[in-house]
Amino acid sequence: MTLDEKIGQMSQSTSMGHSISEAIKAEIRAGRWGSFLNAGNAGDRAEAQRIALKESRLGIPLLFGRDVIHGYQTVFPIPLGQAASWDPGLVEQAAHIAARETAADGIHWTFAPMVDIARDPRWGRIAEGMGEDPYLGSAMAAAMVRGFQGKALDGPESIAACVKHYVGYGAAEGGRDYNTTWIPEILLRDVYLRPFHAARDAGAATFMSAFNDLNGVPASGNKLTLRQVLREEWKFDGFVVSDWDSVIEMISHGYAAGRADAALKAIQAGVDMEMVSTSYRENVKSLIETGKLDAKLVDESVRNILRVKLRLGLFDKPVPAAPAASAFLAPDALAIAERLAAESAVLLKNDGGALPLSKSISKVAVVGPLADSAVDQMGCWVADGKAAAVRTPVAALRSLLGAARVAYAPGLKSSRDTSTAGFAAAVEATRGADAVVLFLGEEQVLSGEAHSRAFLGLPGAQEALVGELAKTGKPLVAVIMAGRPLTFPAVSSKVKAVLYAWHPGTMGGPALASLLFGDAAPSGKLTASFPRTVGQVPVYYNHMNTGRPPSASELGIPMGTPLDPKDFTSKYLDVDFTPEYPFGFGLSYTTFEYTNLRLSAGPVHMGGHLTVTADVANTGSREADEVAQLYIRDLVASVTQPVRELKGFQRVHLKAGEKRVVEFTLSTADLAFHNRQMQLVTEPGEFHVWIGPDSARGQRGSFRVTD
Ligand code: NOJ
Repeated sequence: MTLDEKIGQMSQSTSMGHSISEAIKAEIRAGRWGSFLNAGNAGDRAEAQRIALKESRLGIPLLFGRDVIHGYQTVFPIPLGQAASWDPGLVEQAAHIAARETAADGIHWTFAPMVDIARDPRWGRIAEGMGEDPYLGSAMAAAMVRGFQGKALDGPESIAACVKHYVGYGAAEGGRDYNTTWIPEILLRDVYLRPFHAARDAGAATFMSAFNDLNGVPASGNKLTLRQVLREEWKFDGFVVSDWDSVIEMISHGYAAGRADAALKAIQAGVDMEMVSTSYRENVKSLIETGKLDAKLVDESVRNILRVKLRLGLFDKPVPAAPAASAFLAPDALAIAERLAAESAVLLKNDGGALPLSKSISKVAVVGPLADSAVDQMGCWVADGKAAAVRTPVAALRSLLGAARVAYAPGLKSSRDTSTAGFAAAVEATRGADAVVLFLGEEQVLSGEAHSRAFLGLPGAQEALVGELAKTGKPLVAVIMAGRPLTFPAVSSKVKAVLYAWHPGTMGGPALASLLFGDAAPSGKLTASFPRTVGQVPVYYNHMNTGRPPSASELGIPMGTPLDPKDFTSKYLDVDFTPEYPFGFGLSYTTFEYTNLRLSAGPVHMGGHLTVTADVANTGSREADEVAQLYIRDLVASVTQPVRELKGFQRVHLKAGEKRVVEFTLSTADLAFHNRQMQLVTEPGEFHVWIGPDSARGQRGSFRVTD
C-alpha cells in the first residue's frame, strides 16, 4: 500500500451524501477514504462499494457506519429503557433485529452500544446507556454486542459493533455534555471501564474514543486507556475510531497545538481512524517525513482496520442495492419491540391496585402531550426510525377498547407547551370517563447528545394540567415517557399510579395498552436511581459509606434546622437522604416475598465459590415476572468499597401463589476490586450478601473469605 492509501484507510468521511459526486467517486477510486458515515441510500452505497472494489488499485472495500442506537426502522425502547428490562436475552434479540435491518440496507457498522456509566440524569445521553451500574451495564453491553455481531461477523445479518464512548464520557461534570471528567484510576477501572471490558470480551469489533478530557488527557489522545488498557491489558485487536472531530477538538481542550499535533497525539495514543475531521489526511505524510511519527504506527492502525474489514467479509460480500421492503418492520421485529417495551416499563406507584384498569370500563379519557406523538415516542437517535410505523397509545387503546370508548384530548401541544388553552378540552374529555390515563414526560428533543437539562421536572404546563384534571375527582393514572429519570412529586401526589415507560419505541402503544389493561404485568426495574430533587444529584446506590452515614432514624424531613441540624451525618437539611426510587426498584400487579436466605456452608477459600439462595414467592393473585437481585458488600478492605454492589440477577416467572428458589453462585473472583497498585484483588474478610427485589431491600446474610 502507498502511504496515501494507508492514510485513506484511516480516514472516515461524512461527505458522501446522496447521489455521489464525481469528486468523491474519484477519491474512492484513489483509495482516499476507508469509511463513510451517514452515506446516501442503499443504491448510493452499492455504487460506492462497486467503485472501491472494482475501480480502486487495491480493491479494498469501504466500511459504511451509522448510528443504529436502539433499532433501525423498527425502533426499540431507548437503551436506558432496554436495560430496565433486566433481560439480556431479549436485548440481544432486539440488537440482532436492528443488525438484520441495518445489514439489509448495506450498512456494515453501528456506533453502538453506548456503555457509558451515568450517575447524573441531567446528562442528556443517559438515555443512550444502561444506567449507573457496572455489572448490569456489562451484561447489557455484552448482550448488545452479541446481538449486533451474531455468531460470525461476516454473516448476512451481522454488523460490527462500536463500543463507545471510551471512556468516562458519562461522568461529565454537572451533567453538561462534552464536559471535563476527573475519574480516579481505581474508580475508572472498577466502574467506568467494566462494561467496555465486557463488550471487548464479547468480541466487539471496534471502539470509539470519546470527546471528554479524562484526568487532564483527552480520551482521544489517552495512551493509558487506549494503549495500556485496551491493547496491552485487554489484547483488543479490532480498531478504534475517534468520535466526530474529537481528534481536532484536542486543540480546544488545550492538549494539541494544532491539527498536525492533534493527529500525532491521536495516532500515538492508538486512534486508528479519524471520524469527520481530516487532520490525518492533511498531516500524516509530513509527520512521518519529519520523523515525528513512526510509520510503524500507521501500519499498525491500517492492519487493525483491514482486519475488521476482512472479518466482516467485505471483500466478497454482495452489496444490496435495493433491499426488499419486507426486510424492515417485519412481524417478528415488531413482536420483539412490543415485548421489550412492555418489559422495560417500570411501575413506580400503584395505590390501591389502581392498575390494571378493567377492560369492562365504559370509557377512558386519554390526556397528555405524549399520548399520540409518534416522533417523541421513538426517543433520541432514530435517524432511520419510521414515525409512520409507530403505534401510539391512543391508536393502541382505540384498537383495544374500540374508538367510542376512548376520549382523547392532548391538553398540551408538546411537553414544553406552557399554554393552558387546551385544558378545557382535556377536562371535557374526562366527562363520563371511569378513569383518566395521562401520558406525560419529555419530548424527543429533550434528551440525547448535547441535550442536557439543569432541571429534572416535567417541562411546560404539565403539572398545571394534572392539577386541573385532579379537580374532576376522577381516578388518574400517569404514564411517563422520558429519556432520563425525572422528578415529579407534585404529579405523583395527585395520581394513583405511575408507570415509567421511557421512550418506548415503535411498539410502545400496544405494549402500554396491554400493561394498563392487565394483559401483561409490569416487570421492569430501574437501572438509575431517581433523585427526589435535582439538588440531590449525583445520587447512586453503589456509593461509599462515608465516616458519618445517615441512619434509618433520620428518614424523612424536616431534619432539624440549619442552626441545629439533627445529627451530624452526610445528608441535606431539606430533603430525605434516600432517593425517590432506588436502583433496582419496580412494582408489579402482584406482590413478591423473599424469605429463607441461605449460603453454602463455611468460609470460602480464596479461589473457591459459594452459593447463595433464597425463596421468592408470588404472594398476590396473578402471574408475573420478578427480577431477583443479588448484592454484596465487602465490609473492610484496603480500599473502601461501596455499601452495596450488584453481583447477579435473575428474571423469574411465578404463577399466583408459586414459590421458587433462586440460586446464585459467587466466586471469590467476583468480589475483586482494584487496589492502589491497580491490581485486581480479592481480599480476605467479612462480606454481607443480599437477595432482594431492589438495592434498598432484601434478605441479608454474611460470609467470610479466607486465604
Ligand atoms: C457524535 C456522537 O458522540 C457519537 O455517539 C456518534 O456515534 C457520532 N457523533 C456519529 O454520529
